[in-house]
Amino acid sequence: MTENHFVLCDLEGHVAVVTINRPDKLNALDGATRGEFLGVMDELRGNPEVRVVVITGAGEKAFIAGADIGEFEGRTPVDQFRVMKAPTIFDCVDRFPKPVLAMINGFALGGGCELAMACDVRIAADSAKLGQPEINLGIIPGGGGTQRLPRLVGLGTAFRLLYTGQIITADEALRIGLVDQVVPADSLREHVMQMAGLIAEKSPVALSLIKEAVRASARTSLDEGLNQETTLFGMAFASEDKAEGVQAFLEKRKPEFTGR
Ligand code: COA
Repeated sequence: MTENHFVLCDLEGHVAVVTINRPDKLNALDGATRGEFLGVMDELRGNPEVRVVVITGAGEKAFIAGADIGEFEGRTPVDQFRVMKAPTIFDCVDRFPKPVLAMINGFALGGGCELAMACDVRIAADSAKLGQPEINLGIIPGGGGTQRLPRLVGLGTAFRLLYTGQIITADEALRIGLVDQVVPADSLREHVMQMAGLIAEKSPVALSLIKEAVRASARTSLDEGLNQETTLFGMAFASEDKAEGVQAFLEKRKPEFTGR
């Protein structure tokens, strides 16, 4: 892999762990970090050995404490518009054609919470804290927070969190549906890697088709989504992985999927 400073990447079997590595700044996302992140994800996208990606933050305190607020000072609206219209880390994760899990090990605020929301599954340590505190800076979320948060937690709860900027516990995040699981902090990594390993054993073809179909559910009508599911089902049916999966079942053995 390319040598990076602010984004580390470790491969464990078919699982890539991508770590935002600015612990002294609570892994706040500056331009250099976002650029490195996109570069790492590009490499992982094209690497057939990688079947699942886990995103986390370095250190014990933070997943990602948001955009680097230092970069806002002196930036013109036009500069900001250009930053936001360039390919974003949020779109990259959302469209990434493999499962992406957020391993939320601490503060997930602003862009950190938004990046977690762009992931497919969110697992948080019981010590994690989440929120969209942009309102306290006189701005609004710009990484999809106003769109993904209400879809996950409903309008009323989204308004409450966005209006107040309140930072909530992992347990409350679980209760409202902002995260999918909460586990003790000291077993977070083991738990997430176990889940990632389980997913990595499945057909990469079917995984990417599931992601495409589920993404459609948030963007289209039920009828269109069902049509899309039928088309994607046809693609899965034509894959070598489907032949292997069915054959393995009939032969009472474990399938060995290749992603073809
Ligand atoms: N951007 C830039 N720097 C950040 C940052 C951010 N979003 N979040 C934390 N940091 C930096 C702090 O400035 C500090 O740097 P310093 O040691 O050079 O002064 C370091 O990270 C540690 O943070 P600190 O505030 O001292 O830790 P804390 O435990 O007292 O508070 C938070 C933790 C998360 C509550 C607090 O850092 C915070 O509110 N961060 C901003 C969160 C935010 O508004 N995010 C959305 C941005 S749009």
